[in-house]
Amino acid sequence: MSNKHTYNSKTTVDTYRAANDLLGPEKTIIRLFDDRWQDWRLLDIGIGTGRTTRYFAPLVKEYVGFDYAEAMVEACKEAFPNLGEHVAIQLGDARSMPEFETGYFDFIFFSFNGLDSISHEDRVRALKEMKRVGRKGGFMFFSSHNLQYIPNLYKIRHNYNIRYFAYQCYRYCMLLYHNGLPKKYKNLDYAILKDGPQRFNLDNYYVKPAAMVAQLKDLGFKNIRVFPSKSIGEIDLTDLDKVDQHGWLHYLCEI
Ligand SMILES: C[S@@+](CC[C@H](N)C(=O)[O-])C[C@H]1O[C@@H](n2cnc3c(N)ncnc32)[C@H](O)[C@@H]1O
Repeated sequence: MSNKHTYNSKTTVDTYRAANDLLGPEKTIIRLFDDRWQDWRLLDIGIGTGRTTRYFAPLVKEYVGFDYAEAMVEACKEAFPNLGEHVAIQLGDARSMPEFETGYFDFIFFSFNGLDSISHEDRVRALKEMKRVGRKGGFMFFSSHNLQYIPNLYKIRHNYNIRYFAYQCYRYCMLLYHNGLPKKYKNLDYAILKDGPQRFNLDNYYVKPAAMVAQLKDLGFKNIRVFPSKSIGEIDLTDLDKVDQHGWLHYLCEI
């Protein structure tokens, strides 16, 4: 997957610059660990232009923001020149993080489906590295695309705005052209799709929620919790096979 090139482009950097709000599960997590942040070291992987930096860096004892795209790191440094001595923003790749000691961080964060930018094998490598640099008993939190949502991704919604309707038709054709019919993905645990962002220049990993949880358990993560990314609440692990209305899910687990 060659997403790094796209993340380094000016258009992509400008798109991420425009996004500043936290998502629902990110706000939930801030409340959940309310009294602990001040004692924690946080590794924020895939910071982009710093959407999460502005909220999380002021909360913690030490904050390291980390991204493999040079242009993103530069944009983030430029946006946050004065967050304090406890903040570092640096270049690096989640798949191999020799710069960090084993067990150093209390909380590892990979937001906005950044983990979906790499292949399945690399994802497993990254998750292992995230576990290694996390303290035992610490937490990992990330979001990922939901494979069960794919039929909804292809849906053309009726709309009286002709431009929006035309855009949806264009998007449908592009999805078909790049990825084929949605039924192709029905019986898979995971798949890589070109799903639209950055003019169909990004490949994104989609995973069945139950397969994601199994992947995490296999790697030794515990107490896994799942949150819908764009609405409130938490999803019961016994209901994961039915979750097809949420495009992304947030996963919280103990290291
Ligand atoms: C979808 S963007 C999200 C940016 C930011 N977290 C936000 O919420 O706006 C994903 C980010 O992850 C970074 N990324 C992808 N794979 C990475 C990897 N293996 N190591 C470090 N960063 C990575 C990309 O460069 C990009 O900035």
